[in-house]
Amino acid sequence: MGKITTLFVALVAIGAGFVLLRSGETLRLVGNSKTPGILDLFKNPFIRDKIKASAEGYHEKNTRLASGEIKEQDSKMVEQYYNIVTDFYEYGWSQSFHFAHYLNNESFEEALDRHERLLAKKVGIEAHHNVIDIGSGVGGPARNIHVATKANVTGVTINEYQVLRAREHTAALGVSDRVHFRQMDFTKLDFADNTFDRAYSIEATCHATDLTDVYREAYRVLKAGGTFGSYEWLTTDKYDAKNPEHQKIMRDIEYGSGLPPMHSFADVLAAAKAVGFELVYEHDYALDTDYTLPWYHKLDMSYVSTTITHYFTLMMETFGLAAPGAVHAHTMLLHAVGGLVNGGKTGTFTPMHMVIFRKPAAAPEPAAAAAAPKAAAPKAAAPKAAAPKTKA
Ligand SMILES: C[S@@+](CC[C@H](N)C(=O)[O-])C[C@H]1O[C@@H](n2cnc3c(N)ncnc32)[C@H](O)[C@@H]1O
Repeated sequence: MGKITTLFVALVAIGAGFVLLRSGETLRLVGNSKTPGILDLFKNPFIRDKIKASAEGYHEKNTRLASGEIKEQDSKMVEQYYNIVTDFYEYGWSQSFHFAHYLNNESFEEALDRHERLLAKKVGIEAHHNVIDIGSGVGGPARNIHVATKANVTGVTINEYQVLRAREHTAALGVSDRVHFRQMDFTKLDFADNTFDRAYSIEATCHATDLTDVYREAYRVLKAGGTFGSYEWLTTDKYDAKNPEHQKIMRDIEYGSGLPPMHSFADVLAAAKAVGFELVYEHDYALDTDYTLPWYHKLDMSYVSTTITHYFTLMMETFGLAAPGAVHAHTMLLHAVGGLVNGGKTGTFTPMHMVIFRKPAAAPEPAAAAAAPKAAAPKAAAPKAAAPKTKA
């Protein structure tokens, strides 16, 4: 065996050993429930039964989207997407499904935690507040923000498996009395008007085809004077819609991340204005340069580990150890990785444009606000006719 081949085999073996060692053993910053290792992927019977149909359904709809046969993603597609990727996200990322720059040589988990606490501070979350996390994933941010503030936090996600995982992690941390999760569409929240003191969302509203639909619900469930803060995934001013390289970046991100066409900051402002929010603060943290490593560093460095994961998944699916569809799911994620890294390097995409909005103290009724004439909104659809729910 030549030296280069030996080195390659050794590297693969070390990598595989590392991946196996992580299997089922990794503990996260918050909570002591088990993070899935590669051998645990899709082992949970709940998700094992759903993964094949989800992968096929998602792929089929994406093909029809690409051909123009259907125009928009629907919430079912997003639910299928998160059936496919949730175990991979937890295995390869953490219980917080978002990005952060790394400052002052902090660890990955410390960076995520700081990023979440920054949002909680800007939103003004305090111990006596009732808070909603809009698009909560498996609840890493909700638990961290509860630990940081002592607030009561309710996370909502479209995906039932995430609710199950979130509740497991939350019980393991012993905070189930103050951190709750519900399966719900964030464009049709099942809460009465004026329920929450504060609302936040981390890298989730990008799943809404029309931002107005999710902002309107955030506005409706907030009490007058309450604030809503979000880290938005957006195209930046550097993005040129006519540039083929930029187009490919966005297509890869959208396909690999289960998204409709990416919003711009103009879309955010138009949607917020349409539902009645006042802008309190905005800043694109991706533009900051005082970091040790940029937000896309972990993805950029993941070539070896993602390749190993890919071949491992292939082997496991072939021998019936991983659910059918697992390889397809991982291939999809590789598109996202490429698009996100290139989007970060070209500065055409940001996953962390923070916006803080306030519902005015003397707030107009949500229906009146939503029916108000809109500023030019590139992607904002007409306000819905249905009156908002009132369950109080
Ligand atoms: C990238 S993950 C971010 C999760 C979480 N905010 C975090 O940082 O860990 C996006 C989340 O948005 C949720 N989501 C997407 N569309 C949704 C919808 N229509 N209603 C509720 N949740 C939705 C997904 O289920 C997922 O939990």
